[in-house]
Amino acid sequence: AIDIDKLRSETGAITMDPGYKNSGSCKSEITFLDGEEGILRYRGYSIEDLAEKSNFLEVSYLLIFGELPKAAELEKFETDIRKYTLVNEEMKNIIDGFPKNAHPMGVLASLTSALTAFNPKSVNVANEKDMYEAVCKTMGKFLVIATWTYRKNMGFPLNYYDNTKGYVENFMRLMFELPTGPYKNNPVVINALDKLFILHADHEQNCSTSTVRMVGSSHAGLFASISAGVSALWGPLHGGANQAVLEMLEEIQANGGDADKYLAKAKDKEDPFRLMGFGHRVYKNFDPRAKIIKKAADEVLATLGVDDPILTIAKKLEESALQDEYFKSRNLYPNVDFYSGIIYRALGIPTEMFTVLFAIGRLPGWIAQWKEMRINKEPIGRPRQIYTGAPLRPFVNAENR
Ligand code: ACO
Repeated sequence: AIDIDKLRSETGAITMDPGYKNSGSCKSEITFLDGEEGILRYRGYSIEDLAEKSNFLEVSYLLIFGELPKAAELEKFETDIRKYTLVNEEMKNIIDGFPKNAHPMGVLASLTSALTAFNPKSVNVANEKDMYEAVCKTMGKFLVIATWTYRKNMGFPLNYYDNTKGYVENFMRLMFELPTGPYKNNPVVINALDKLFILHADHEQNCSTSTVRMVGSSHAGLFASISAGVSALWGPLHGGANQAVLEMLEEIQANGGDADKYLAKAKDKEDPFRLMGFGHRVYKNFDPRAKIIKKAADEVLATLGVDDPILTIAKKLEESALQDEYFKSRNLYPNVDFYSGIIYRALGIPTEMFTVLFAIGRLPGWIAQWKEMRINKEPIGRPRQIYTGAPLRPFVNAENR
């Protein structure tokens, strides 16, 4: 094998790979992804099997600890997460400081970072007990504060976790229960959300996960690293695409519903517009998650009896793009975000919360990757560059500039 460090010190060579399109940053045992074949596996289990037969907490355990839990292990995991769902009351003062219309992802990143102030003990990764406690704490508190970003925007009182209900059920309750009466869970909705969280749970070295590993590589704490991941996820080229897809569909509808006009815009190189929810850095074939979600979307909409004109536009866009030479030649297929926004909308989730739901789903992946990076004692992430600025020049005093 080539010793890269030796080669670089001898030749000064630097590999240029903007966007890290072809650079591996680590070895990982967590997620296998084959973009050419459209294969995704967590810890060796196919995403299709997990989405159909497992549940979100079980998949979280699998990602973080490496094996599917036995029944008693899963029960203990759920109980231990519950122990940490109370969020420090002073966090509410921080929430009150945000303007009412603040974007929930900005608030979530700030609140996650603020958790470091209330949980200052750094995680001793070599100590399994310490690590386990940090995992349960993150899983518990993140879910609650994620829903608080919405409650704050709506001006509703903040809800607390209900220990008699499951993790995903609690998400809906925390979001939607009002003082006027209990929130009635719909099993169709809970099952669909559970599936969506599983599909988002990990995706190897994507932008937000690489960010979590990069920040953590300086030995910053778990909450600080996750907070950076939330910020990275927010952008419309990454997790923010699910919100952008819905906004795009709404815009098409508002402008007469002409999907083909927008397809032409996406192909026009003079126009910065891109078809949101299409294309993927790694998948050059159908995104396997999109296949599962598309089926789930059809089922949920049929069961809930949703008849949404936005869906007709989405179907038309999808059909036209899949037959279009521009999209075919560039291997641009619908990705997971094309359909997730459609289901979220059918479930009554407000558009601005879509990316927050992605973050809740991705949380176990971020934790698993952070943990692996620290346990493997990976070096600090520190890429190089090729300098293209001015050569040495003499300093000019202010009066002579
Ligand atoms: N609409 C129109 N053209 C596109 C699109 C799109 N959605 N995506 C890629 N292209 C074109 C590019 O213009 C480029 O064309 P060219 O070769 O003629 O210059 C070619 O396809 C390759 O695109 P790149 O930008 O080089 O691909 P990259 O791997 O860097 O980007 C990305 C991938 C960011 C996902 C891109 O496809 C995109 O912007 N998609 C829309 C946003 C989106 O849906 N993001 C969610 C990603 S999935 C996730 O985060 C869960």
